[in-house]
Amino acid sequence: MIDAKTLAEIEELKEDCIILAHNYQIPPIQDVADFVADSLDLCRYATKVEKPYILFCGVDFMAESAAILNPDKTVLMPEPAAHCPMAAMLPAERLRQEKERHPDAAVVLYINTRVEARALADVTCTSANAVKICAALEEEEILFGPDKNLAWHVQRHLPEKRIIPVPAEGHCRVHVKFKKEHVERARKEHPEAEVLVHPECNPEVQLEADHICSTEQMARRARASGAREFVIGTETGLCYKLKKENPEKEFYPLLETAVCRTMKKNTWEKFMEELRQRRNVITVEPGTAERARKALERMLELSK
Ligand code: 13P
Ligand code: SF4
Repeated sequence: MIDAKTLAEIEELKEDCIILAHNYQIPPIQDVADFVADSLDLCRYATKVEKPYILFCGVDFMAESAAILNPDKTVLMPEPAAHCPMAAMLPAERLRQEKERHPDAAVVLYINTRVEARALADVTCTSANAVKICAALEEEEILFGPDKNLAWHVQRHLPEKRIIPVPAEGHCRVHVKFKKEHVERARKEHPEAEVLVHPECNPEVQLEADHICSTEQMARRARASGAREFVIGTETGLCYKLKKENPEKEFYPLLETAVCRTMKKNTWEKFMEELRQRRNVITVEPGTAERARKALERMLELSK
């Protein structure tokens, strides 16, 4: 529980600052944020911000996206060293080599990629719109990185295309922990529950699920579905939001140990310190930002 004095201080500090938080953030940060969502909706929201400061509670590629979309605003992070390990799996140089090998292919990069590589992409995507974005492109051949499991998900839905994962083994350490046996066990323990999994999960897990969704699509499914129980195959932080929005329903993490340590680097202490001090400013080199913005804006246009 956040005490009344701290809440009053936060309200005052928020007068010139919007707080955006990803769905995996710790409960108190979710509670005081202005907007809590997945990567796609956070990008959309970031284009509408009017206050001069954005305190972004998430990981590097998300805050960089907000900075790219808002060159006239100051984007801050509680912990600027919250680097998503998957985003570092496709360095720009490696992508350049792959582009030379496949000159006719379109380049679609998951937003969970370092901004220098995203500056070389034709379009960005998130887990919520990857299939839609790839389907909208004319090119039959698509270089897709860095998540091989999201690439598999896209290929499954678009058999007419050739989705080439770059690198071949890019993955999220948290989501690859889920195994088929975990889904089988969860179904035995909760036979009435719907199983929702993230497309960063391994194919064997995706094949066992009822729905494959981004974190915000999971939240929408939980609200709309007639089911009263859900098994959640993503980072455990999402369960807090799901329960808060649906107190009459039950949410069981597919695996209690599916915790993203990077997301959790934004502690409550660091959050409060940054809201007060405003020191961790996220900047992107202007040329890189300009090119990465084009790929992001194309995504927002195609996923309308
Ligand atoms: P979402 O865009 O679905 O919230 O996913 C972000 C992420 O980092 C998943 O690991
Ligand atoms: Fe990166 Fe995985 Fe953490 Fe998402 S859950 S921020 S992909 S390490």
